[in-house]
Amino acid sequence: KTEIRKINPLQPEQTIIMQAASIISNGGLVAFPTETVYGLGANGLDDVAARRIFAAKGRPADNPLILHIADQAEIRPLVKSVPANAIALMNAFWPGPLTVVLERSELVPDAVTAGLDTVAIRLPRSLIARRLIQAAGVPIAAPSANASGRPSPTTAQAVWFDLVGKLDMILDGGQCDVGLESTVVDCTTPVPTLLRPGGITREMLLAVLGELELDRNLSDQTSAPRSPGMKYTHYAPAAPMILIDALPPADTVKLLLREVNLALAAGKRVGAVTSAETAALLPKGVLGAVYGPRGDKEQMAGNVYECLRRFDKSPVDVIFGEAVDEAGIGLAIMNRLRKAAGYRIISG
Ligand code: TXA
Ligand code: MG
Repeated sequence: KTEIRKINPLQPEQTIIMQAASIISNGGLVAFPTETVYGLGANGLDDVAARRIFAAKGRPADNPLILHIADQAEIRPLVKSVPANAIALMNAFWPGPLTVVLERSELVPDAVTAGLDTVAIRLPRSLIARRLIQAAGVPIAAPSANASGRPSPTTAQAVWFDLVGKLDMILDGGQCDVGLESTVVDCTTPVPTLLRPGGITREMLLAVLGELELDRNLSDQTSAPRSPGMKYTHYAPAAPMILIDALPPADTVKLLLREVNLALAAGKRVGAVTSAETAALLPKGVLGAVYGPRGDKEQMAGNVYECLRRFDKSPVDVIFGEAVDEAGIGLAIMNRLRKAAGYRIISG
């Protein structure tokens, strides 16, 4: 039932775009690449189609979806108003990995917003995504195209692994650029609030806005989350993961190697998700997955989810993850790693 089609990310073949768009128009589901992760798309103005997304992913009904548009002007009918700070963000970062939350209009179906009076909107940079939205002629509602609770997919193969049989078509445009989901900013608060860190960094947002609140889930990880998606187990790999985040940070490698050796001595099958530098120090018998060199956090971000998915096919008993510093996109990497670890963190 699920068809997979290769498509050129730089010059998307219009015949394939038209086939995918007609599936969307008829209420079906199409997974497509964006510059962040693959999305599971449906007609964003069709309540029934949007509900199919929740069924396919096994997604809780109270976790709202993002509406994807192809042109900034398409935001108008979807919202009550666009405050000045939202316009500044859109001008600075669209098309790109930024989602803004605004007050919704009546046009947006309840399934999309999970009954909230706000709606999340994003204009992706990916040409495949924008051509698909244009051809469908409607905003496309799309969460990440993983089964609920699993790492987000950055390849078409990861979408297939999680969702085959549950959607109509997968557009295979290769590996996603950023590799982590978009930055989500709530523009309905007096000072805009960062709900989810991503490729548009906190530093970049501050340069445009001058001030930015951090949602409680980012500053204090024990209190109730505001972004509905934040409260669920997320990005979990096949085995339990423990994040090693030592103070001072220079001790992280030492602590990680100690924990790895203890687990090996206890007879466990051990996985490790680390920088290239740390991978070179791992003892024999450890199944390693490498983010990338410590100096290149963009590359590390791009590989996080594939690293977590590495253990789907080679089972281990425990996975140790290496923390990274939180400057720039490091904040987003650490946000996803903490969730993937279910907040099991060893800090020394
Ligand atoms: O990069 C991305 O954003 C990808 C690609 C496909 O665009 N999509 C994505 O969607 O990551 P999803 O559903 O996995 O994450 C959407 C996030 C969730 O944390 C959700 O709770 C939040 O956005 N969100 C959606 N609508 C919201 C709203 N009205 N208020 C607050 N948070 C909202
Ligand atoms: Mg998701």
